Amino acid sequence: MQSVTFRLATALKISSVPFRTPVKFNTFHLSAVNMAVKVGDSLPSAELHEDTPQTKINIAEEVKGKKVIIFGVPGAFTPGCSATHLPGYLEKAAELKKKGISEIFCVAVNDAFVMKAWGDHNKAEGKVRFLADPNLEFAKKLGVEHEIPVLGGWRSKRYSMVVDDGKITQLNIEPDGTGLSCSLAEGLKI
Ligand code: BEZ
Repeated sequence: MQSVTFRLATALKISSVPFRTPVKFNTFHLSAVNMAVKVGDSLPSAELHEDTPQTKINIAEEVKGKKVIIFGVPGAFTPGCSATHLPGYLEKAAELKKKGISEIFCVAVNDAFVMKAWGDHNKAEGKVRFLADPNLEFAKKLGVEHEIPVLGGWRSKRYSMVVDDGKITQLNIEPDGTGLSCSLAEGLKI
């Protein structure tokens, strides 16, 4: 169904239709999902939240002039994210920073309080910063939105990326959205 969606979207030149915009085509409706960003693209501008919903971080502004890692997870406190994905970045944070990484950001479609609690629980201060994307603004702009009914609905695929002065220079999106393979910390070449 998804490939039909993309083919029709391309044919109709509607590849930039907003996320889940219903597209009326003869007698049935389609839902369009954004195409993912790629290496060489600029990191999109999006408002994320750190610690509280009131603390707004424009991610495109935040990464200007820096080399950073951003990794996205399906959800705070989920078993795979807590036991495997996050620990890899926490363990490697010092080494990655010695090699020129200014910041490591973890992003999820959760609220800012949950993201802060997850960071505090993992004693991540000074290693990884936790940014909340509660309304999928960043996930949709990256094209990594992913429906995960067991987590309650639309979340983010699992991914990692390196962003150098605003440009995406490495990008690893898990092919099935939630697996723990290419997006792990050891997959980045720093
Ligand atoms: C996880 O453990 O990371 C996970 C669990 C359920 C859905 C997606 C991810």
